[in-house]
Amino acid sequence: MVQKPLELAHEFLAQVLGPDAIAVDATMGNGHDTLFLAQHSGHVHAFDIQQVALEKTQARLAAVGLANVSLHLVGHEQLEQYVTSIRAAIFNLGYLPAADKSLVTLPETTLVAVSSACRALVPGGRIAIMVYWGHAGGPEEKDALLDFVQTLPQEHYTVMEYKPLNQRNTPPFLIMIEKKEENHG
Ligand SMILES: C[S@@+](CC[C@H](N)C(=O)[O-])C[C@H]1O[C@@H](n2cnc3c(N)ncnc32)[C@H](O)[C@@H]1O
Repeated sequence: MVQKPLELAHEFLAQVLGPDAIAVDATMGNGHDTLFLAQHSGHVHAFDIQQVALEKTQARLAAVGLANVSLHLVGHEQLEQYVTSIRAAIFNLGYLPAADKSLVTLPETTLVAVSSACRALVPGGRIAIMVYWGHAGGPEEKDALLDFVQTLPQEHYTVMEYKPLNQRNTPPFLIMIEKKEENHG
């Protein structure tokens, strides 16, 4: 069966994670991605602006006894103040299901966070961005993000898109970024 975008996102990141790796969940939400990263890395920094996200994520981690995570009640646009060396990061854009649907990720802050994460990536490091864009403001955020990632210099980054082409409405899709290994040749 063809992989769903979120499945590919996790596999893409897991390939570069390991016990020494530092990972970032830029949009903690209900903590599914934080848990996944915690199971595959040494330490995870997870960000969200909603207290309920921290509580849900804390409970999810506690249920399986994982404590290798720092939960930050801080916008991801400030991530550089918390972590400067990243092996893998995930963004899951949009709103928190079953919470206030008007609290969505926004183009200005998303772009600051994605560019910070790109800078902080170690060579060979990867970022997966799940783009949910069916809500109000979603198309604008999607377009701003696509414009931005297309400007990342190809000497330093590989940028790919994985997207259903024949699905109704506004199916989520995946952007994958890899920082190239330094070329000493
Ligand atoms: C689609 S949900 C994330 C789902 C989550 N990854 C999961 O596994 O359940 C998007 C989340 O981004 C959060 N968010 C919105 N603006 C943010 C910001 N500036 N910094 C960090 N998180 C933000 C929302 O509060 C919401 O919880």
